[in-house]
Amino acid sequence: MKENQAMQNLPPYLFARIEQKVSEAKEQGIDIINLGIGDPDLPTPQHIIDRMAASINDPANHQYPSSVGLLEYRQAVAEWYKRRFNVDLNPKTEVVSLLGSKEGIAHISFAYLDKGDINLVPDPGYPVYSIGTLLAGGKSYFMPLKAENSYLPVLEDIPVEVAQQAKLMFINYPNNPIGVIADMAFYEKVVEFTRNYDILVVHDAAYSEMAYDGIKPLSFLQVPGAKDVGIEFHSLSKTYNMTGWRIGWAAGNSSAIEVLGRFKSNVDSGVFQAIQYAGIEALRGPQDCVDKSNEIYTERRKIALAGLERMGWKVNPPQASFYFWAPVPRGYSSASFAELVLEKTGVIITPGNGYGEYGEGYFRIALTVDKVRMQEAFDRMYAALGKVEF
Ligand SMILES: Cc1ncc(COP(=O)(O)O)c(C=O)c1O
Repeated sequence: MKENQAMQNLPPYLFARIEQKVSEAKEQGIDIINLGIGDPDLPTPQHIIDRMAASINDPANHQYPSSVGLLEYRQAVAEWYKRRFNVDLNPKTEVVSLLGSKEGIAHISFAYLDKGDINLVPDPGYPVYSIGTLLAGGKSYFMPLKAENSYLPVLEDIPVEVAQQAKLMFINYPNNPIGVIADMAFYEKVVEFTRNYDILVVHDAAYSEMAYDGIKPLSFLQVPGAKDVGIEFHSLSKTYNMTGWRIGWAAGNSSAIEVLGRFKSNVDSGVFQAIQYAGIEALRGPQDCVDKSNEIYTERRKIALAGLERMGWKVNPPQASFYFWAPVPRGYSSASFAELVLEKTGVIITPGNGYGEYGEGYFRIALTVDKVRMQEAFDRMYAALGKVEF
């Protein structure tokens, strides 16, 4: 039986391919240091685990949950938004729970695209924006993120006929893989542009709480008029070290939230209720755990920056998120450099071309191992490669 055209065009997920390489290397007895996938190595804070433990013993939580999420969970989200961004949300109509934000990001295209419709997708970008588009039968128009434009898409460069056919615009700040943030002026332009062309903005804010040097990333929903044109995806994964728990939410435009909720009610049955209670605890409970994680990433960021500089890189450390984005040395492609580093040092880095055409020539490092291993990774790279040239 042959899979459909979209599946024929779909390679295994970037990190599934990298995982395969990791297990092959491990089988050969190589001591791998994995700076590839953005999966926090830090444990979920204890108070969240305790709430989960209590909730799992309550039989009321063993049944099908509401697919849009417990009202109490959505209320906790609305309170968090008010505290963090001073944004008002109606928990009944403007918030929907997600089985992790990846799920919502992949599904939103199914709710909005007809065959051949266009989504505007950042390049480089988190692969799920274009994968969801492809699986839903649509086409991606890639918006390049370039250093000279502060890694923001230039909306004036989008051809009018593309904008007229576009349904969704994905944006993502703090950005994966580049680690930069966006300012209010950019979000204001996005509101104006998408309002003119009747495009739904899908802002992915998975890294909003992971930032350095006193930076507090903005929410797209802080911009006047944002709720008229868009929704924002959030995740508990990175903020509270809960990647394995699979919980997040979308918030914003009530019509889009209803559409996404209706789609989801037909394909999934919501987040395990005990996990929703743990999520409520995360959002309403003490937030010093977030600061502690950021302090740890700050130390690792310093080690990574020094390690790269020692080898000759001139890079900007991330303003936010836990990713370094750097060019590969002269003579290498993203893939050949990632392979060389793995072969010579046992360190996994992510080739930038996995994030799109404009990611070619770059690689990404995630700050997801402790500082001793982080230092060791850079020592190994220095020993194997020495100074590099560009
Ligand atoms: C930019 C971005 N958005 C969304 C996600 C998905 O997070 P989750 O599905 O765990 O909420 C990730 C995960 O790495 C990400 O990097």
